[in-house]
Amino acid sequence: MSRSCDPRDAADPGGARAPAPVGGGEAPARGAGAPLAVVVMGVSGCGKTSVGEALARRLGARFVDADDFHPPANVEKMRAGTPLDDTDRAPWLARLNAVMRHSVAKGEPVVLACSALKARYRAALAERLPGLRVVHLAGSFELISARLAQRQHRYMPASLLASQFEALEAPQDAVTVDVDASVEALAEAAARGLTGAREAVKEP
Ligand SMILES: Nc1ncnc2c1ncn2[C@@H]1O[C@H](COP(=O)(O)OP(=O)(O)O)[C@@H](O)[C@H]1O
Ligand SMILES: [Mg+2]
Repeated sequence: MSRSCDPRDAADPGGARAPAPVGGGEAPARGAGAPLAVVVMGVSGCGKTSVGEALARRLGARFVDADDFHPPANVEKMRAGTPLDDTDRAPWLARLNAVMRHSVAKGEPVVLACSALKARYRAALAERLPGLRVVHLAGSFELISARLAQRQHRYMPASLLASQFEALEAPQDAVTVDVDASVEALAEAAARGLTGAREAVKEP
């Protein structure tokens, strides 16, 4: 079942209020129903890194960016503007799964930013992590390409965005947020969607 969480419903849509506490202040409150492992997914430029970091702060979780775990051969391919194939992705996804399992085994909540566009990639990430939850940052091609145009990414030319939208298999069982809002409003909406899951999945 699909769960939608409109960030514009958040109490702080403009991001004007102080965000959740950051390092140095009081420890972030871990929501009672907060999951131990979360994947923040979506096409390049949708805000996975920005919102993932903000969500991790809110949940008191470790933040992991999947981009940092690519083997060098994958990085070279992406630099050249060539989309990765599933053979390229397999060891990368297995490594990310292992990183999350390591955190969960220690009782350390973890938020992973990872495009995870296809159901089989998400299945690979969820291997032996049955409680893994997914946040999908969804938005229009126009909005996301405008954001990408302003960003110099290490190895994701904006020309790859179209192929990302083609590859996207939108998840049905995720907390979905519309990215047309501030980073903090999105993190708040995602956190609410995750911690309020029990009510949200109840059949009418
Ligand atoms: N909600 C947002 N509002 C405005 N700008 C955003 C938002 N989310 C991300 N950005 C900007 O868009 C660009 C892409 O965001 P990023 O987090 O790097 O995306 P991803 O990790 O999914 O590729 C960055 O320049 C970032 O600062
Ligand atoms: Mg990123």
